[in-house]
Amino acid sequence: MQKSLVIVVTGTSRGIGKGITNVLLQQTLDRPLVVYATSRSGANTEGEVANPNIIEYHKLDITDPASISSFFKRVRMGHGAADVLINNAAVSNDYRENPEYAAQTIRNNYVGTRDMCKAFLAQPDLRFGARIVNITSGLNGVSTYGTELQQKFRKASMIADIDDLATKYIEDTSSGPECQEAAGWGAKARSYKVSKALINTLTVVLAQQNPKVMINSCCPGWVDTEMGRQGQGRPPKTPEQGAQTAVRCAIGDLGPGGDKDGALGQDSDEVSGKFYENESIVVVGWGKSKLWLET
Ligand SMILES: NC(=O)c1ccc[n+]([C@@H]2O[C@H](COP(=O)([O-])OP(=O)(O)OC[C@H]3O[C@@H](n4cnc5c(N)ncnc54)[C@H](OP(=O)(O)O)[C@@H]3O)[C@@H](O)[C@H]2O)c1
Repeated sequence: MQKSLVIVVTGTSRGIGKGITNVLLQQTLDRPLVVYATSRSGANTEGEVANPNIIEYHKLDITDPASISSFFKRVRMGHGAADVLINNAAVSNDYRENPEYAAQTIRNNYVGTRDMCKAFLAQPDLRFGARIVNITSGLNGVSTYGTELQQKFRKASMIADIDDLATKYIEDTSSGPECQEAAGWGAKARSYKVSKALINTLTVVLAQQNPKVMINSCCPGWVDTEMGRQGQGRPPKTPEQGAQTAVRCAIGDLGPGGDKDGALGQDSDEVSGKFYENESIVVVGWGKSKLWLET
């Protein structure tokens, strides 16, 4: 049997993160899956594990560099370098947005995801064909921003460019709602959407910088979780249905061969820097790829 495939998932204490670990662990592929299910609490969510897969629960706060570094040391000592990173952990403060919460959303979602990507990519024995999956959202296309900001998103070629955009958003927001809107970020609560736009841009930039790694982002759709229930009405998708696009991006065929059923565990086209979503946020499926910067 081949060496295990080591997969790290963040934010698995509930919701889509828990759904992702459940779907992964039920797979029987030609190699065992070792899934590190991580969250701030390190909660054991007791999903069903198909033989010979393994699940390990760990504490990991993506906003704490010390927590990230000690976590990757433990992974290395346990099963060797991680092969796949699924950045699922996020917060939404839309329901109580103010400058402080807006900044917290950016730090948690964008900065935390960025630091997880950096730590994963810095692993000394990272294998060719490793993957990163960033879970974002489809409702924040580049065209929803002002013209100057759109250009900044499109021209970003280094992480520092995206950090500058994040800093500018926090500054504009702290100067009041008029300033935020006049600067092209949009009106009312925007920090969650901006954090996901920054991560989609990060995905594109990291894919360009790391040709040996397949780095993509995806939208789970509208899913029945604590965060999903912040919207109006009952979200139609279960956490396991919401997990599908992420699982396909993690262990499926990234090419058109995976559009129908994910083609989990099968050979994959080399695809990087793309954004996967279904036809709408209520559709259940494995997603199709597009260029986020053209949305
Ligand atoms: N639900 C939807 O309809 C929907 C739609 C589009 C995109 N998404 C995206 O899907 C992903 C999962 O969302 P969800 O709906 O499952 O949300 P959720 O139910 O609120 O779960 C979020 C998870 O992230 C964890 N988390 C947050 N900050 C963290 C941190 N600093 N370090 C480690 N873990 C942290 C939480 O853990 P704690 O227990 O520590 O708080 C929790 O396990 C998110 O990226 C979200 O933006 C969701």
